[in-house]
Amino acid sequence: MSNAVMDKPAAPAAIPTFTATLIIRRFDPEFDDEPRWQDFDVELHATDRVLDALHKIKWEQDGSLSFRRSCAHGVCGSDAMRINGKNRLACKTLIKDLDLTKPIYVEAIKGLPLEKDLIVDMEPFFQSYRDINPFLMAGHAPDKGKERVQSPVERARFDDTTKCILCAACTSSCPVFWTDGQYFGPAAIVNAHRFIFDSRDDSAQVRLDILNDKEGVWRCRTTFNCTEACPRGIQVTQAISEVKQAILRGRA
Ligand code: SF4
Ligand code: FES
Repeated sequence: MSNAVMDKPAAPAAIPTFTATLIIRRFDPEFDDEPRWQDFDVELHATDRVLDALHKIKWEQDGSLSFRRSCAHGVCGSDAMRINGKNRLACKTLIKDLDLTKPIYVEAIKGLPLEKDLIVDMEPFFQSYRDINPFLMAGHAPDKGKERVQSPVERARFDDTTKCILCAACTSSCPVFWTDGQYFGPAAIVNAHRFIFDSRDDSAQVRLDILNDKEGVWRCRTTFNCTEACPRGIQVTQAISEVKQAILRGRA
């Protein structure tokens, strides 16, 4: 048996931390007439995201801070918020990628009724989504025992718009939506696009008629805010443009 003494493994080096200041727009309908800004200093690691900073504030400094989140990994779409004036998902925004020489401003997305702190009422957003019939409407049954066949080219036609996670970052970055709550908004049009260009669906014209409305696609002013805001990289403005073309010329 060997008498050699095993070296102890070296203790891992401490992961460096730094202090960031978050300035959060707070609103509690029970106590506040108007929203107010509140500062928090938080000790963070370079790998932390804005969502981690919000958790640290809630768990260690102020349990009343309210925000939505679920998956924490860019899948559920529940934590869209304005971070330094831009719509982003808090769980996909690394603190180290922000300018840490300045405070980080965090507030609720715009254009939807503010409920509490970073939480807005999403119902108007989801009503527009429901209005465009976001489900397959096929007028015929597939052959007995068969699937609805679709070629890779046909599937690719609407691939981009299948990626939507309904976070509302696009719709709530749209200046038309801010000033006109009736506008369907980019997310509803993206989800209409997903079915309008699906070769298995037979009701494209139903959705095109819905969007050929004074509150439909023609309200879009092509500002590209929506495309820049989309955390899934969907070409939102292009999808809106393709729906406009389909209204004018029919589905290609
Ligand atoms: S299109 Fe992009 S920004 Fe808009 S709701 Fe879908 S995922 Fe969010
Ligand atoms: S918490 Fe689910 S997308 Fe951010």
